[in-house]
Amino acid sequence: MATVIAGISGAIGSALAQQYLEAWPEQPVIGLCRHPERVPEELRQDSRVHLVPWQAECPADGLDDAAVGDVLSAAVGLQNLIYAAGLLHDDTLFPEKRLEQLSAESLARAFQVNCTGFGLLVQALAPWLRGKQFKRVAAVSAKVGSISDNHLGGWYAYRCSKAALNMMVRNLSVELPRRYGPIACVALHPGTTRSALSEPFSQSLANLKVHEASETASNLYRILASLSEADNGRFIHWDGSDLPW
Ligand SMILES: NC(=O)c1ccc[n+]([C@@H]2O[C@H](COP(=O)([O-])OP(=O)(O)OC[C@H]3O[C@@H](n4cnc5c(N)ncnc54)[C@H](OP(=O)(O)O)[C@@H]3O)[C@@H](O)[C@H]2O)c1
Repeated sequence: MATVIAGISGAIGSALAQQYLEAWPEQPVIGLCRHPERVPEELRQDSRVHLVPWQAECPADGLDDAAVGDVLSAAVGLQNLIYAAGLLHDDTLFPEKRLEQLSAESLARAFQVNCTGFGLLVQALAPWLRGKQFKRVAAVSAKVGSISDNHLGGWYAYRCSKAALNMMVRNLSVELPRRYGPIACVALHPGTTRSALSEPFSQSLANLKVHEASETASNLYRILASLSEADNGRFIHWDGSDLPW
């Protein structure tokens, strides 16, 4: 059975793909991303990796269901659906420090990539979640999306969109097992990880433990591999503990 990773061009997404290929050498990985040419060479050259163009901000462009479906059919189904795409900053968007910096456009873009993209992807692939075999649906979220843990403020668009992602996970954790079969749908906090997303904050992260993407991938893989139906609906820290919503 196959693993789908949205955001396979990212540091955490690509490291997770490597982890799955090592752990399950017979199973294909379907990698969704905007720019397949930016995916690490090692993955691009691997015949078990199927890259499918996908854009979280333009759901109308859609996912090539047929391309994904062909691989899933050949692999006799979907086992893991992992959402590792995310947006914190880019050329036109940067985390807000104060209210005056709030912008409708930034909020909308962050929601699109961090929350809407996940919901619509699960919607598109839901038929593949049907069946008696246990399946995992995991969204890479962030601790800063925890409402009760928010004591610092700031980062409005990112925090709000990750809190919305967490609610999407909770909602899906109610509906998916009822309609499709045994599933654990969870939100994961990967921990601070060296990547393009965290790079502008490297100085302020100096006092924090920063993981390499490969460490984060093995931490997340450990959690994903140990999931059972009893874990459905959890918000899980990379060390395996529960995070408050
Ligand atoms: N790094 C950390 O310290 C940290 C901490 C907490 C949570 N996280 C979460 O972990 C996840 C992965 O982050 P990362 O650290 O691996 O960052 P990254 O290396 O910057 O990867 C981000 C991924 O999101 C994709 N993406 C961004 N906008 C997109 C769009 N419009 N459509 C489709 N894909 C889009 C990127 O694709 P392109 O290659 O096309 O840009 C890339 O694959 C994110 O959800 C992030 O919020 C990270």
